[in-house]
Amino acid sequence: MVVTFFHISLIFLSFVSALEACPKCGSLDVPYPLSTNENCGDPKYKIYCNNGSLEFLSAKGYYYKILSIDPGSYKLIIRPPSIQNLCQSSDLSLGGLLLNDNSPFSISTRNTVMLFNCSDTILLSPLNCSSNSVCKLFEDKIVEGSGCRNTLCCSFLKDASITSHRIRVRMGGCTAYTSVVELRPDAPFDSWNYGIELQWAPPNHDFNFRGH
Ligand SMILES: *[C@@H]1O[C@H](CO)[C@@H](O)[C@H](O)[C@H]1NC(C)=O
Ligand SMILES: *[C@@H]1O[C@H](CO)[C@@H](O)[C@H](O)[C@H]1NC(C)=O
Ligand SMILES: *[C@@H]1O[C@H](CO)[C@@H](O)[C@H](O)[C@H]1NC(C)=O
Repeated sequence: MVVTFFHISLIFLSFVSALEACPKCGSLDVPYPLSTNENCGDPKYKIYCNNGSLEFLSAKGYYYKILSIDPGSYKLIIRPPSIQNLCQSSDLSLGGLLLNDNSPFSISTRNTVMLFNCSDTILLSPLNCSSNSVCKLFEDKIVEGSGCRNTLCCSFLKDASITSHRIRVRMGGCTAYTSVVELRPDAPFDSWNYGIELQWAPPNHDFNFRGH
């Protein structure tokens, strides 16, 4: 009895899911549960389709372009903010990337984050701020990083020991950042996959397992 009910629920859920996937935005599919309007997807997973460009809205109100989505692993990749003259990220005035604590989205553990133009106090942190840190390659080899050349920079893997809801920049701290998804130590710098990978908690997770 219980098993049958559970199966019917699952079939029903996947049926509803299929019905409620949102239409394509530009060239990107918008898989369930991501939601670009109130008639499709799950409203808890709100993203935005602005003029054919799929975007993620941070808690501070900054729109980050969504570059790719992998619904099978509940992940999407957003484009890091551009780094402007004087080595400042375009979201600097908002303090960088911030997600709501109660958002189903969080920053995944596969991002290597690089911080630029940091103040000396960063040296007290466990980040890799040595002269052979990968952030030096970004400053020296990538045009976008050239405004940050010769500033104090640091890199770190955004793993589970660090908050998964924020990448912080500020005047007097570090003023710019970028991120590379799944950076392999031996990979040439021109093959880096720039992005900030976010993951989402699957919908109805509690619902399925508590057996409502
Ligand atoms: C919308 O996108 C088109 C094509 O990319 C572009 O030409 C146009 O300027 C954009 N409009 C706005 C309001 O951003
Ligand atoms: C910093 O990163 C570089 C390049 O990956 C590595 O060779 C070096 O050992 C790291 N240093 C520290 C202190 O972790
Ligand atoms: C670095 O940060 C300081 C403030 O912390 C800022 O005044 C300066 O414009 C930034 N950029 C460079 C290239 O120093």
